[in-house]
Amino acid sequence: MIDRTVLIAGPLTPFAAEAVSAMFRTLQLPAGSKAEPFLCAHAAEVEGMVLAQVVDEDFLDRFPRLRIIANFGVGYDNLPTLHAASRGILVTHTPHVLTEDVADTAWALILMAVRRFGEAERYLRAGCWARDGMFPLSASLQGRRLSILGMGRIGQAIARRAPGFGVPVAYHDVASLAALPYTRHESAKALAASVDILVAALPGSPSTRRLVDAEVLEALGSEGFFVNVGRGTVVDQPALIRALKAGRIAGAGLDVYESEPHLPQELLELDRIVLLPHVASGSRQTREAMTQLVIDNLAAFFTTGRALTPVPDTPNPA
Ligand code: NAP
Ligand code: 8YV
Repeated sequence: MIDRTVLIAGPLTPFAAEAVSAMFRTLQLPAGSKAEPFLCAHAAEVEGMVLAQVVDEDFLDRFPRLRIIANFGVGYDNLPTLHAASRGILVTHTPHVLTEDVADTAWALILMAVRRFGEAERYLRAGCWARDGMFPLSASLQGRRLSILGMGRIGQAIARRAPGFGVPVAYHDVASLAALPYTRHESAKALAASVDILVAALPGSPSTRRLVDAEVLEALGSEGFFVNVGRGTVVDQPALIRALKAGRIAGAGLDVYESEPHLPQELLELDRIVLLPHVASGSRQTREAMTQLVIDNLAAFFTTGRALTPVPDTPNPA
């Protein structure tokens, strides 16, 4: 047990909250109207935070003694990291430990979208197989070309699985990753034009916002599929809905959305799209590993002044 006060902000699974509470003196931020009186009473006690919700600068400014935020996730677009840096608050995240589960999810979405497995299951459950006969034929994954937008940890893990499916890989990333045996394209549009399946594994940021727009989807084409396991903000969601409705792309698979957990009714009503509720890292084993990394970051920081996996905006002290 480390004698520091840690606020849990946002919903954690019970085992994660218990594990954090076993290591530190913890407070749970209440939701809704109870948050304000709680903050008035306790914000000054908080030295560390486990974060699993979206927060802004004003929220961080409520905590005069806060020195570390351990974000429960690898993406950190849910908090203002530069403002944290200006306040001397170190932010950590959970890279690597979730990579393989997210890559598996991308492939699940690829297979489900291309082979229409979600639709096929709905067809069976609705009694259509027995009543109307065989489900219509789908496209094949074989002979398709895969492209990855954002060739970081997750993008590369998605690419590593491609030889098993006999599918060639191309990518677009800000960096040219010369050591990788894949073709790089200069833009998202050029990438989309050259392939059949476009998978986004990008962080949410101003530079990735709506990078997959109507033009990119048009370039992907009427036989093309779009899959997103990065952030919902990366795609122009209304343009995606229009493209699916008009048959300008063949199908899509999404784990992430613009305004989670709220999806437009139009998206829910479309058949040629597979929709998952942001579950890519949601296996028990991976959430345990994320929890452990969150705890290890807090413990390392409180005992040595350095964290294990700080985000680039808030590096460890030199
Ligand atoms: P990562 O290793 O940082 O990979 C992201 C890659 O995208 C990096 O190579 C980055 O380049 C590149 N990139 C950034 N901005 C770009 C732009 N405008 N154009 C082209 N490339 C750009 O991160 P990761 O661990 O693979 O995770 C990626 C994201 O997946 C996370 O940030 C998170 O949003 C999302 N995610 C989702 C789930 C889920 O449950 N669905 C789970 C985990 C993660 P630089 O490094 O040079 O910036
Ligand atoms: C979520 C994720 O963090 O790591 C990320 O960036 O999107 C996910 O792993 C997870 O759903 C917990 O909020």
